[in-house]
Amino acid sequence: MKTSIVTGGASGIGLELSKLLIKDNYKVYIVDNNSKNLNRLKKNLDSNSYKEINIDMSSVSSPKKIYNMLKDKNIEILINNAGFGDFGKFYQTDWEKGEKMINLHVLNTTHLTKLFLKDMVKKNSGKILNISSVAAFQPGPLMSIYYATKAYILHFTEAIANEVKDKNISISVLCPGQTKTDFQKNVSSKKNKIKFNSSCPVKVAKYGYEGLKTNNTISIPGYFNKFIVFLNRLLPRYFVTKIVRYIQEKNRN
Ligand SMILES: NC(=O)c1ccc[n+]([C@@H]2O[C@H](COP(=O)([O-])OP(=O)(O)OC[C@H]3O[C@@H](n4cnc5c(N)ncnc54)[C@H](OP(=O)(O)O)[C@@H]3O)[C@@H](O)[C@H]2O)c1
Repeated sequence: MKTSIVTGGASGIGLELSKLLIKDNYKVYIVDNNSKNLNRLKKNLDSNSYKEINIDMSSVSSPKKIYNMLKDKNIEILINNAGFGDFGKFYQTDWEKGEKMINLHVLNTTHLTKLFLKDMVKKNSGKILNISSVAAFQPGPLMSIYYATKAYILHFTEAIANEVKDKNISISVLCPGQTKTDFQKNVSSKKNKIKFNSSCPVKVAKYGYEGLKTNNTISIPGYFNKFIVFLNRLLPRYFVTKIVRYIQEKNRN
């Protein structure tokens, strides 16, 4: 059986990606820190098709632990999907949460990728999908660390995808727009109000998985999201930043 890893695979986009992998006969190692979500997997997935690993991927020791646990499993696909957001002015938000976000999105996505990519290069085979966001394409007042860390994931993934172009390895980054998962309600106690461009995780996961299989470096699901990203390139950055601030304020106030 082929093997894969999905971080944050017990909910939302990660769960849908796990289902797609299982459909393609992969065994999925689902790495998540949410015990409730992990317990619910039994209802959704065949118990032979996955193995759960309950671990906090924002802890700096986690990538090495996961690698040591799974290095002999001949991992063919790694999906770095675990992520969360936080709402508020940078000088007012909780530092511990911000630090965890940087560790999860930046440090540990990079470390886990390095550990498994080295082995993929040795055997000249493998695929890595990193989950970023449309947030990656501009600064994000009121969600500053989230937007900045997603920009890191985008740029980092594009760069390493270029480095392995001559190998039998696909590296791809998925940049969803707003998607109907638990993510939005975990961002803030203030509910998000702007939902007109909200997609479903099934569609988003399918788009990203196809992008990975066809070695498409950047996958942006949805015409509106593609348009927004395109528009960003035409408008002055200060203006784009102002628009994001306006939208964030309208969305959560
Ligand atoms: N939904 C959106 O609108 C949207 C838009 C663009 C990009 N994204 C990105 O898509 C990815 C998946 O998010 P989603 O929308 O599917 O959210 P989700 O439904 O909340 O699923 C994320 C899963 O990852 C887990 N997780 C969070 N932090 C973790 C950690 N430190 N270690 C291990 N597992 C952790 C979550 O557990 P907890 O419930 O405990 O946090 C949850 O089970 C994220 O990277 C997110 O930034 C989402």
